Amino acid sequence: MGWLAWERFRCNIDCKADPENCISENLFMTMAKRLAEDGFKNAGYEYIIIDDCWMTTQRDSNGILQADPERFPHGIKYLADYVHSLGLKMGIYQDIGTKTCIGYPGSQGYEKIDVDTFASWDIDYLKLDGCFMDPKEFDTAYPAVTKHLNKTGRPIVYSCSWPAYQVERKMTVNWAAIRDNCNLWRNYGDIQDSYDSITDIINWYAINQDALISAAGPGAWNDPDMLIIGNFGLSIGQCQSQMALWAIMAAPLMMSNDLRNLRPEFKEILLNRDIIEVDQDTLGIQGRQILPANQGQGVEVWRRPIMPVMQIANETWASFAVVCWNRRVDGMPFAFPRQLGFYGLTHPGGYYIKELFTKKEYGLMKADDVLTMQVNPAGGVFMFKATLAIALKDFD
Ligand code: DGJ
Repeated sequence: MGWLAWERFRCNIDCKADPENCISENLFMTMAKRLAEDGFKNAGYEYIIIDDCWMTTQRDSNGILQADPERFPHGIKYLADYVHSLGLKMGIYQDIGTKTCIGYPGSQGYEKIDVDTFASWDIDYLKLDGCFMDPKEFDTAYPAVTKHLNKTGRPIVYSCSWPAYQVERKMTVNWAAIRDNCNLWRNYGDIQDSYDSITDIINWYAINQDALISAAGPGAWNDPDMLIIGNFGLSIGQCQSQMALWAIMAAPLMMSNDLRNLRPEFKEILLNRDIIEVDQDTLGIQGRQILPANQGQGVEVWRRPIMPVMQIANETWASFAVVCWNRRVDGMPFAFPRQLGFYGLTHPGGYYIKELFTKKEYGLMKADDVLTMQVNPAGGVFMFKATLAIALKDFD
């Protein structure tokens, strides 16, 4: 969990015209302070991550990357020290090819130097993009960087874009190798500030869910890209849908927004402890779409097994988080009454049901009890947690 510059701040390098928003030391220090002081750190948001456009256009005479001296006058180590002093962690961006997507120096041929440089700056997270490189080389190039990272002896989270560029070219993706070598990986196109972009990403995740779910697990996560909650493009309901569905997908929660002027209703969504808890659930199982919208009268259902679980006579019973997502656009809230059994919640002892946005408790419900909800149109969600009742009692 953390904050990443790209979606909201892009490659704005004109600090003369736009000093408050340009990619600079000032921007990252400001966002780090907001993360630490406005409740985000306490909720689990920890990494502050620089994206493209932080460098000079040339390496120095020793081949070492340089931060732009005007925009980062004290260098990256200074910024990392500041971020660490707030109890946060520092992330940086580089590209595995000859250039970054915007055209700054890439890592190809300098992989070890770059990784060692990042470690010497006390970097905790590396986002390694995949522009300007033949995607056929990814299968060897990304694991080579894994080895360099491990050799530094510093724990550095490794975010790969390896599958994203292969998927784009319809190449075969070796998910097992990606899982072995990366901590998280982008696998689809860039998120933009729109609900269409969110639905496009979710549709792709649903179509590819079998491969994606089996690749994911603790320490290795599919990354559907940044949270855009608090920006310009989404309604409140649509922000709720992004938060809910990202949590079901066990996605990294990397906000890309302006923490200096977040409206309280957006902040509340981003700080929703119950949903963060689902996202960060220790079972680490990525959830799946269990009902497509065209079979649910326009309501799509996603479900994720979460803690607590119980092992009974060789059978494992889990608790679940469920999202009912209304993709209809016909004005009024849509009633969606279903028995718990419809969602696969069939343990005879029942489940305690709680809706995670309203915090409404529905008490103990069993498989044939009906949970009735009204889901707002145009991207509204009803997200409930179903806690396995027997797991809360002593059981022998
Ligand atoms: C493509 C990535 O997918 C984006 O997230 C961002 O890092 C840009 N490149 C930066 O150039």
